[in-house]
Formats: sequence, C-alpha cells, structure tokens
Amino acid sequence: MTTNPININEEFFIEIKKHKSFNELSELKQEEFENLFKQTLHDAKYGKWLINKSEIVIDGNPFASGTFSTIHDCKWRGLDIAVKCPIYKNVLNIVDLLKEIQIWNTLRHPNLVQFMGFTFSNDNLYILMEKVYGNNLKHYLNNRTTSNNIYKNKEIITQLINVFKFLHNCSPPVIYRDLKPENILIDKNNNNIKLTDFGLSKYFINDDNESYNMTGMTGTLRYMAPEVYLQKKYDLKVDIYSLGLIMYYIFTNEQPFSSYNSNSMDNYMKMEDVIFSTIKIKNIHLRTIINKCIDKDPNNRYNIDELYIDWINFISNLPKERCIIS
Ligand SMILES: Nc1ncnc2c1ncn2[C@@H]1O[C@H](COP(=O)(O)OP(=O)(O)O)[C@@H](O)[C@H]1O
Ligand SMILES: [Mg+2]
Repeated sequence: MTTNPININEEFFIEIKKHKSFNELSELKQEEFENLFKQTLHDAKYGKWLINKSEIVIDGNPFASGTFSTIHDCKWRGLDIAVKCPIYKNVLNIVDLLKEIQIWNTLRHPNLVQFMGFTFSNDNLYILMEKVYGNNLKHYLNNRTTSNNIYKNKEIITQLINVFKFLHNCSPPVIYRDLKPENILIDKNNNNIKLTDFGLSKYFINDDNESYNMTGMTGTLRYMAPEVYLQKKYDLKVDIYSLGLIMYYIFTNEQPFSSYNSNSMDNYMKMEDVIFSTIKIKNIHLRTIINKCIDKDPNNRYNIDELYIDWINFISNLPKERCIIS
C-alpha cells in the first residue's frame, strides 16, 4: 500500500519551530520531534482521527487539571466530549502529548477512557476524548457517601485488574507507569471505572539494551515502586505494586504512607527490610494478596495473570451480598 508523502508544511510545525524551547533542543532531539510529529500526523490522517480545529468548540474554563494539562468540556459534531490541553506550550510538553497520542490511539477497552482524536492550532495541540461524568478515585474515596462496602470495593478493583490484564497482555505489552487515584475515573452513572492519562505509558519491550529509567521522576512517590525510585531496571510489575497500594487505599479509605514525610519515604524506598504495614486490612486472604502486590522485590511480586487468579478466587469465596429490604 502506498501512502502520500507527509506534508510537513503545516502551520503548527512552522510556528513551533520558532519557539525558544525548540531551538534549545539538540539537533537530534529536533529531528526526533519532527519525526514524531510527522508520524502522528500520518497515522491520524490514515486512521481518520485527525480532527479539524474548526469542528470543535472548547470551553475556555477547564473543569479539571493535572500536572501538565488542563481538561475542558468540548463540543464536537453534536457530542459533548472532553479535551486535554498542555498547560505549558513548550516543545517538550508537546512531545509528551504526541507520545501519549501514539500509544492511546491504539488502545480500546471498556475500562479505558476512549481516545477520539487530536487537533492542533497555530502553536497548540489538543487530545479529544470521551468525557467521563463523575470524579477521580481520590475525590470519590474522600467524599464517599456510602459506607466502605466490600462489594462496591470489589467491583472497582475487579475492573482495575481487568484493565491491567488487558494492557499487560497486549503485544507488545503496555506498561502504564503512572497508576494513582487521580488517573482513575469513576463514572457516576454506572460506577464503572475508566483509566485515563497515558502520559507515562510505554510499550514494554524486554530488551536488555533498552533502559526503562523514568525520566525526571515526575508524579507522586506514594504509588511509585521502589525499583523505579532507585532508578533500577524495571518491568510491568511496577504497575502491580501501584495497584496493590490502591487496593489498600480503597479498602481502608486511608492513603498509603499518609504519615510519611519525604525523609521517611526515602528510607522506606532504600531499606530493603522496611516494609509497608497492611495490618489495617482485617481479612487475611485480602491482606496476603495486597502484600504480594507490594512486595519490594519484583521477583516475589505477582504478575497480572497470577494476581487475576488469586483475586477471582478471593471474590468468589466472599459470602453472597445480602439484599436488605427495609
Ligand atoms: N475524559 C475525562 N473525563 C472527565 N475527567 C477527566 C477526563 N480526563 C481527565 N479528567 C480529569 O482531569 C484530571 C487530569 O487529567 P490527566 O489526563 O490525568 O492530566 P495530566 O496528564 O496533566 O495528569 C484527572 O485527574 C481527572 O480528574
Ligand atoms: Mg494525571
């Protein structure tokens, strides 16, 4: 199949090249950026997910924000959707969004926020996605109106495990690397979870020459696996570690390491024999599962398929949920 040569005379690219942040990049990095942009443009045109900016109307006020971006309501072809825009319009942030698009556009799962396309103006880039009506998990847990109910918790965690079963079994596997409550949305209409933010996701290719050092150590340390913090080589099991701490948070309604400061956190990460206590989890079977997720040694930690089996076994042995009729 032949494809049209890529027209790189896009206004966007010409504008970006004028940016100070572009000229500060090495020649190699400039070339990398140019290729990434060309590739994304090509894939988007071919896959019909390049959207003309004139088709969308973005609400000027964001309804949410993250570390590097703001999230706005948006109208597109009669639909109410959401759009992600970088806060700082420098080349490195645009590169991050392009990388996010490259991976996100290939993923489809009921528990992932649906990527819909991308568009750009003179000097900015926007990711269009399904809007989730609800809150992120952190907000949800902090404002739970219902009691901490094992059956509701079970639903949330089962969906989370399912989505990681999907990501880790892709070919090549997708390593998410940024699992934290802020990136998990709960749809208030049906309580379904939707994972968002593929900003740190990567295809995991088990190649000794490839380094998986997390650049810049962005994000919160709370859910970060010790091997990432210690800048060791790491693999898909970093997601399992975060998943274990999120399970702890959901079942106790208490953020892990809530009493730690940066010194005690550093200590925990560096000292092999310092472990995180899960004593607040009263159910022994559940506590064993969580402990096996958060084992500091990745060799002793579950992989996703092992976790899935133990989790299904655990939930199938729970007493049936009683229906109370008042
Ligand atoms: N599709 C969406 N629908 C509703 N809320 C969203 C959506 N995407 C993100 N959010 C909210 O915006 C916040 C920031 O989005 P995120 O993609 O995580 O940005 P960042 O990459 O800057 O961290 C999330 O924590 C979430 O609360
Ligand atoms: Mg985020």
